[in-house]
Amino acid sequence: MSRPNDPHRPRFHFTAPTNWLNDPNGIFHHQGRYHLHYQHNPQAAKWGAIHWGHATSTDLVHWQDEPLALSPSHEHDLQGCWSGCIVDVDGQPTLYYTGFNGERQVQCSATSQDLVQWTPRPQGSIVQRPAGVGPQDFRDPYVFRHGDWWYMVVGASLNHERGQCLLYRSADGVEWHERGALFTASDLRLGRMWECPNFFPLGDKWVLVVSLWLFLGVHVFVGRFENERFVPEWDGPLDVEAGAFAHLAFRGPDGRTLQWGWINEQRDQALIDADGWAGALTVPRELLLDEHGRFAHRPAAELARLRQAELVPEPGADGSSNRFRFAGRHLDIEAEFELNTAKVGLELLRSADGQERTRIVFWPEARRLSIERSHSSLSADVRRQDVHGHLELGADEPLQLRVLLDASVLEVYANDRLSLITRVYPTLADSDAAALFVEGQGRASIRVWEMGSMFPDR
Ligand code: FRU
Repeated sequence: MSRPNDPHRPRFHFTAPTNWLNDPNGIFHHQGRYHLHYQHNPQAAKWGAIHWGHATSTDLVHWQDEPLALSPSHEHDLQGCWSGCIVDVDGQPTLYYTGFNGERQVQCSATSQDLVQWTPRPQGSIVQRPAGVGPQDFRDPYVFRHGDWWYMVVGASLNHERGQCLLYRSADGVEWHERGALFTASDLRLGRMWECPNFFPLGDKWVLVVSLWLFLGVHVFVGRFENERFVPEWDGPLDVEAGAFAHLAFRGPDGRTLQWGWINEQRDQALIDADGWAGALTVPRELLLDEHGRFAHRPAAELARLRQAELVPEPGADGSSNRFRFAGRHLDIEAEFELNTAKVGLELLRSADGQERTRIVFWPEARRLSIERSHSSLSADVRRQDVHGHLELGADEPLQLRVLLDASVLEVYANDRLSLITRVYPTLADSDAAALFVEGQGRASIRVWEMGSMFPDR
């Protein structure tokens, strides 16, 4: 069981009520409610015996737990109901997922009237695995409508060497036909296998997001969808160093494209077991293309509904590089810096004696944004490496940071185009002081809100 007053448990990032969570799955809007599903082990705070957990919301920010949606139940999924999606096929909510039986991954499907009880489709495996793709390199169906067809992309590996995304097509969402590879990695640098492919239109382009097995990172391509093939025009990493993984994008009822990712633990299993839960999701983000055709993302506007009191940061003493001071462990921070050569950033989760502290630092000359974690915890059983991202700013472009600190979860969004996501596990009860700093000359401004809980019933 989870323990009360757990100092590392987030409040406004989704977690399972207890035990293990990994990928977001089957995000769907139906009769005024958002449905969020997730990879879940209901028996332990570690991966295994994967079911689909379920929660619902009317506003994207307050969530209510629901009974398990999918449990291993037939010969194809006895060892787990893995990642997938839900779409409305001519009025029929239809779920596609990967079943694992200990030897093979196959794509399965189920239907439901009420989004509570799911009935597996009798045919079991619904698509063929092509030659050159191994039985354990074939998973995570993502289904979308385009023109007169339903399309499904499935994550795969070509010869267990190169990431690949396979394409299938159907007239009715039931009978599927192979259409070959949508896109294959051109070299070996993007991982051996691609998990959780998402393929969707954004603006006047198409976006492909893939998670690079095994936890190597997440990559985004922006390009064209022509003759059932993807033609990339731009690409780059998302959530550097796999800070979030296995993303799921979803088109909301208002036409926005929203995305969630899974944030893994970065501490030893004994610590996880003591707390009784593992894994969180990112906040929902809105996806956009910027004016240069690059992929952009930022926390969905609804998140502001969880803001409670606005804090008033105190100006620092004259001569101090700490311009504003505040405190908290569940904060939404907007900071803007006009840059010259000064090193700027935020210090968070600082203890009174200074032994514990976490810093977000931007080095303008190196164009590097980092989360410095080496002093983030006195525990030897948690990861404390720094996380780095590269950020090019235009000549007069200020640095705009949106920082979501939620106990052990830290999300940093910079100028809508770089995100660093990681975990921090301070041990001292007073590790909650924060400050904005500017080392040198430069103007900065900040607004900070204390954040409330997304779980009214927990
Ligand atoms: C990604 C992943 C998916 C798979 C699921 C199993 O984290 O490995 O490829 O479907 O998790 O839980």
